[in-house]
Amino acid sequence: MENVFELIRARRSVRSFDGQPIGSELTEKLRSFMDSAGNPYGIPVEFKLLDPEEHGLTSPVISGATMYFGAKVSPGAHMEEAYGYSFEAVVLYAQSLGLGTTWIGGTMDRKAFERAMDLQNGEIMPCVSPIGFPAAKMSLKESLMRKGVKADKRLPFSELFFDGSFGTPLTEERSGAFAEPLEAVRLAPSAVNKQPWRAVVSGNCVHFYEKHSRGYVSDATGDLQRIDVGIALCHFTLAAQEKGLAPLLSVSDPGIPADGDTEYIATFTV
Ligand SMILES: Cc1cc2nc3c(=O)[nH]c(=O)nc-3n(C[C@H](O)[C@H](O)[C@H](O)COP(=O)(O)O)c2cc1C
Repeated sequence: MENVFELIRARRSVRSFDGQPIGSELTEKLRSFMDSAGNPYGIPVEFKLLDPEEHGLTSPVISGATMYFGAKVSPGAHMEEAYGYSFEAVVLYAQSLGLGTTWIGGTMDRKAFERAMDLQNGEIMPCVSPIGFPAAKMSLKESLMRKGVKADKRLPFSELFFDGSFGTPLTEERSGAFAEPLEAVRLAPSAVNKQPWRAVVSGNCVHFYEKHSRGYVSDATGDLQRIDVGIALCHFTLAAQEKGLAPLLSVSDPGIPADGDTEYIATFTV
């Protein structure tokens, strides 16, 4: 993917589509990208492109979509981070092809989607997405939804990112080579636009945390906010790689004191 940072800046959730099928060429490109969309945890995430007519798939927030995709994963440690990472890589690839998407974990006919995904042996399907060409004009419902969650806004850099400890906010100016990768994290999509990711920069390490809110964990989805952190890890990696950096993921809690609702997730060493 070229110009990842621009793709990240340009992406938004698309809920109104123009009703045109995406055609066999783009479908094949998506299929082959999905088959290879890995994550630094090495946990398999399986994608399927789904025809809504064939499977009777609907979402009350989406209009004009002629295709969806879903992804499933086997329960286990780090499944959410891996899931968020791989799924977001597909979202950004779709963006590079001029296609719109929306992460959907709640507002869908979940039973029908799970049937279409053919879940086996305890697999779960936390989220799905429509995929297609954005409509020229947003539906009224879509613009109201965006207003409802302030979808065009993000928390300021200094409330999300910290310098050595949670007591010291990080400024963009002081974050050096990490400025763009962290800005890419800040712009990421998240469930209800809660932006639960936090990061503490310490030397050449960036420690990622999840700031929990209530109501984001269920058997059907796992912890949606942990998926959000997986999305953040994906944005950080792709934006850092674009700057010629090679972030290496590890899971080893540095023991930096954090609020009770803030949980350590992973570290990138760059
Ligand atoms: C894990 C996850 C689950 C989401 N679930 C839904 C959903 O059920 N319905 C919906 O309309 N949007 C859903 N969203 C989209 C968010 O509302 C959206 O990303 C956020 O408001 C920011 O807007 P943007 O994506 O346009 O930047 C979800 C996003 C994520 C990351």
